[in-house]
This record gives sequence, C-alpha cells and structure tokens, in this order.
Amino acid sequence: MLIAHISDPHIRPAGRLYQGVADSNRLFEDAIDHLHALDRRPDLLLLTGDLVDEGRPDEYAQARRLLAKLRMPYLVIPGNHDHRENFRAAFADHAYLPAEGALHYCVNAHPVRIVALDSCVPGRHHGDVDAQGLAWLRRTLEADRAKPTLLMLHHPPFASGIPYMDAYRYLDPAPLAAVLGAFDNIELVLCGHVHRTMLRRWAGTVVCACPSSTTEIALRLAADAAPASYMGRPGCMLHLWSEAQGMVSHVSHIGAMEGPFPFA
Ligand SMILES: [Fe+2]
Repeated sequence: MLIAHISDPHIRPAGRLYQGVADSNRLFEDAIDHLHALDRRPDLLLLTGDLVDEGRPDEYAQARRLLAKLRMPYLVIPGNHDHRENFRAAFADHAYLPAEGALHYCVNAHPVRIVALDSCVPGRHHGDVDAQGLAWLRRTLEADRAKPTLLMLHHPPFASGIPYMDAYRYLDPAPLAAVLGAFDNIELVLCGHVHRTMLRRWAGTVVCACPSSTTEIALRLAADAAPASYMGRPGCMLHLWSEAQGMVSHVSHIGAMEGPFPFA
C-alpha cells in the first residue's frame, strides 16, 4: 500500500495569497499534480491539518474545489488554523467524521488501519488531546492489537527545538505516550504543523512530521531566534507499507528539477 501525505497547504479564498505572498492554492494544485505524475499512484492521501489558513467557509469551498481534481481517496484532519465546525460542515459528506465533538476517527478499510486524532484546542494554537479523547484512542486501539496501524494528528508530540514553533507545540504529550506505549502495532505517527520534515523515536513507535506544500519554517535553533519562514522547496511524503518491511517513508520534493543524470 502506498500512502501519500500532504500537510499544511493553508488554502485561501480564490485569488488570495497566503501571508500576502505565497500562492498556496496554486501550490496545492501543484502538489496534487505531483501525486498524479508519480510512477505509482498512491492508494490513499492523508492531509494532516491546516488545510486552510483562517478556517473560513470560503476557504473550505476553495479547498473542496481543488480536492475535486484528486484522483485518489483522501482523509482529512484539522490543524490549528482550521475551524472545527466549519471543517466538519465542509466535509459533511465524509462519513468517517463524527457528527459532534472532536474530530477523532478510525478508518479500517485498508491493509493499514488509520486512526486520526484531533489535537486542536478550539481558539488556541497549541496541541492537546483531552482525557475523553485519550480514552477513545485506547478503546479504538484495543479493538485490534495486531493490525498495522498508522496514527495521525496535526501537532507533533515533541519540542522541535525551534523556539517560535515550540510556543505552539503539543504541550503535554506524556499521557498520549502512555496510551500508545501499551501497543506494539503502531507503525508510524504522522504529523504536520512544523512545516519541516522531522523524525523522533517516541512511545515505542516513530513520529514523522511532514513538510508543508506551501512554505517552510526557518530552521533556527537559537533560544532567541526570530520567527521566519520561506518559500522553500515544497514537499510531501510517501509512506510505502508492505507486510515484509512495515512502513518505509520518503520525502518527495514538488516541482521541476534538472536531470535525470544517468549513472552506471
Ligand atoms: Fe501550518
């Protein structure tokens, strides 16, 4: 099974730019075209939040227009720039989304079970999953302790080391780690939020944060670093799952480049 992973497109209303600079809508179209041009069509696309920039209904309408071009099934979770109820209304035809409350869900229709956690706190930018959400997660995971499982949530459960991102991090991941640590079939935890590729061994599994399809957060690690982001090379990830190896994850850069250069 090949799973594509796009994060943080920050879609705007038609004709509007992200931060007044980046054409996030065109970049998202580029990302979709990129997936369609791969030599193997992904079986599923996962979108790990900040689908739109301000949570506005006209942004979600634009997101649906762009997603209508996608020729593969997809699953969505919200990020801190999404608006929970506008998000739910925009994807009312996505039967896996719950009718009320946090947008946690489980999709068990593929060789890999997909468990989605809504790590957003309405009106705030940091990440958290409350006790009710963690109880739901434990029950969901206990339903099948053997099937390979992929967990996705917007906020990575760690401090990145980039101070201006860590102000909005998942503040207390220990209770989530306590739930996940009781299971050994969590192949991978997929996140967005940090607009960079990051990896961490955590809670007996591997956490993988995906780059944004729109902009790149500057890699500044000094404690007093000033916030910055760039029109970097947009990217997505491809997670290739097989019975033989489990999950192997690739970064896939979007856009034309020179080459190929033949080698022997
Ligand atoms: Fe974002």
